[in-house]
Amino acid sequence: MSVSVTVRLMKTRIEQSVFGLIDRLNLLNGGKNIFYGQPSEDSSLLGDYVASFLVSHSPELIEYLSDAESQELEGFIRQVIDYSTKGVLDTLLHLNQYVDVDDQFLCALNDLYEDFVRAVFGKLQTDRTIDPHWLTVRVMEHQLRLRSLLGSVDELRIFPDELEYLEPVPCSDYSAELQLHILGIRPDELLEPVLDLGCGEQANLVIYLRQLGIKAYGLDRINRNQLHVCQASWFKVKLHANQWGTVISHLSFTNHFRRHHLKVNGQHAAYARKYMEVLGSLKPKGSFFYTPDLPLVEQFLSPDLYSVTRMPVETESSKQLPMGIKAVRVTRV
Ligand SMILES: C[S@@+](CC[C@H](N)C(=O)[O-])C[C@H]1O[C@@H](n2cnc3c(N)ncnc32)[C@H](O)[C@@H]1O
Repeated sequence: MSVSVTVRLMKTRIEQSVFGLIDRLNLLNGGKNIFYGQPSEDSSLLGDYVASFLVSHSPELIEYLSDAESQELEGFIRQVIDYSTKGVLDTLLHLNQYVDVDDQFLCALNDLYEDFVRAVFGKLQTDRTIDPHWLTVRVMEHQLRLRSLLGSVDELRIFPDELEYLEPVPCSDYSAELQLHILGIRPDELLEPVLDLGCGEQANLVIYLRQLGIKAYGLDRINRNQLHVCQASWFKVKLHANQWGTVISHLSFTNHFRRHHLKVNGQHAAYARKYMEVLGSLKPKGSFFYTPDLPLVEQFLSPDLYSVTRMPVETESSKQLPMGIKAVRVTRV
């Protein structure tokens, strides 16, 4: 093996260990309440995991930071910043599916990680060692800034500050069969292509329909690299006129719409516009199937343009759902 290949492999190993550290920290801190107690300069703030990482990896990390070409190093630092930002966002969305953040929040989060990562890597480069006390103070400052930024997200303030560990707001992926049953869909009647709006991390229905040979796609802001699924917020993806034969949204879009309708400063107007965009994206005779229902909106749909069918939701698991919830089919006439 040539020297350059060996060096590259070594660098890759170090880079992977940093990403592994970020994953591990997200896992360890994911269930912790950032608003609980006050971070202090206590040495326990770094935790055993970071302490042992520093002992086992800091010499090779320091060597890597000193030897890397500036462009290569800048690329790596950028990746660490973006990976950390994405990790926090994933943690928030898993904690509460109703968390909604805008681009301004994401930029602020990215800036916060940029300051932290550049400070730590810069210090490692200049001092060629890491002082645990210095790092503890940086982590504490970072946590305080993070806490202040996260404090602006209303859906994170629903958790009591005095709980050290948090129970995530329920959010499940359901089996394809259950979704079809609840929505009263027969796959052989579906008009293609099919879009599952808020298809879930596992995209169960998209996979199931694809296995039946139906051209189905999913959209969700959380995704486990499933094929045919676009990972994005539904507000970021424009649906075009006459694009879809069927749009399906089981306990997703309209569930969030309802929540926003009840919230102070909720984005119900944006949801109403998106709902009309979904209807506008249907081909003639195309349908939008969803649950829960939106009586407030459905009552205003023109019967000249749309037919609306409402069905009670009746399954074993529907006993857990709010009383009187309906499944709806809106068809373009
Ligand atoms: C309760 S799950 C239901 C998933 C799937 N429809 C099912 O029944 O198995 C709700 C889904 O909506 C997604 N979601 C919430 N807000 C979203 C947004 N703004 N854009 C895209 N997906 C969103 C969540 O990530 C989650 O996967």
